[in-house]
Amino acid sequence: MKNLKNKKILLIICGGVSAYKSLELIRLFKKKDAEIKTILTKNAKEFVTPLSVASLSQGKVYDDLFNVENESEMDHIALSRWADVIIVSPATANTISKLSQGSSEDLASTVILASNKPVFLVPAMNVRMWEHKSTRNNLVKLKSYGYKTIGPIIGEMACGEYGEGKMAEPTDILNEINIFLLSQSNNKKIKVLITAGPTNEYLDPVRFITNKSSGKQGYEIANSLLKRGFDTTLISGPTNLDVDNKINLIKVNTAEEMFKATQKNLPIDIAIFSAAVSDFKIIRKKENKIKKQENLTVNLEKNIDILNYVSNHNFMRPKLVIGFAAETQDLDRNAIMKLTNKNCDWIIANDVSKKDRGFNSDYNEVTIHYKDKKKTKEVLSFKKKSEISEEIVDRIVAQIN
Ligand code: CTP
Repeated sequence: MKNLKNKKILLIICGGVSAYKSLELIRLFKKKDAEIKTILTKNAKEFVTPLSVASLSQGKVYDDLFNVENESEMDHIALSRWADVIIVSPATANTISKLSQGSSEDLASTVILASNKPVFLVPAMNVRMWEHKSTRNNLVKLKSYGYKTIGPIIGEMACGEYGEGKMAEPTDILNEINIFLLSQSNNKKIKVLITAGPTNEYLDPVRFITNKSSGKQGYEIANSLLKRGFDTTLISGPTNLDVDNKINLIKVNTAEEMFKATQKNLPIDIAIFSAAVSDFKIIRKKENKIKKQENLTVNLEKNIDILNYVSNHNFMRPKLVIGFAAETQDLDRNAIMKLTNKNCDWIIANDVSKKDRGFNSDYNEVTIHYKDKKKTKEVLSFKKKSEISEEIVDRIVAQIN
């Protein structure tokens, strides 16, 4: 992550039990040679000490004891201008509420109000507080002002309750900030294209052949990509799924339409092919509905392999090409064959013979095979497709840095 080197991070630590995690966040940023200045709110000092923050960050720590004299050294305007990015971690329900009202009652809120820089909130609170309408409304307001959020995640909280509200893990925060800065430094977002779902190949206006696929895994990957700041295009065959409207969703029916939509979106930085594309299409589709008859012979021809086309495109090959392999036997062997034959950088293989995972299920287990011989295959063990997606996107972020 050379991208974080010398980046100026203004970290605002608020008073919550997760404040200690921000120490780990500082450590991770320092490892990447980022510069850090910190503001501790009055309550934060109940949880972490200015001394520990200062020694870890090797940078200035500010608090509400700032006054006219030391304000001249770095006032609230200068602090906000100094930063490339401002992170509020943990962002408590109280802080979120104050920020949504444009409060400027302490140094932290004043700096944020005076800021012209990207502000990331890392919420951490009890599940009920997180779900409370008042918090939800405050966040809607803050998001409309352009504030971004990282997390929270689902898990057991310090209070013993379980649910959404737990602070995001420091490594995930680091990844998200990194990808954000990366897209900013390129002056454009990194563009990712993902295909998902089945394709339908029509015999006549009402009948088609298709592949079994719900599209869930591909849609989840698209959601995870969007969350990390990628410019995400999802080319999807027919599914019943919805995605965030910030994803550029292109709905198609046939493999040919999927191919044309893909072609139209080249060049692209990263391409992921999770669609279960029908390998065959009907040679002569009938204009009208075919009438019932004793026997029907249908002639099929091979569809173009979209993945193969993209991965072998001489001058428009994406930097990273990821294929999927849905297999019912010889999982590893077949996947490795596809990795080579289709000129992919990675192949993500899943066993579709088991009932509790894969097709239509919300769960999956996958194995990632890499072209890079230095990397050994990785198994992402049985878990929700949304979690598998996060883990896949973690690896994509790590790969491009
Ligand atoms: N794929 C594609 N276009 C096709 C067929 C497949 O882009 N016409 C992509 C899929 O999206 C997937 C990968 O190729 O990423 C492997 O697809 P899969 O159906 O597992 O393999 P096939 O090449 O179709 O081989 P087989 O059906 O014989 O296993």
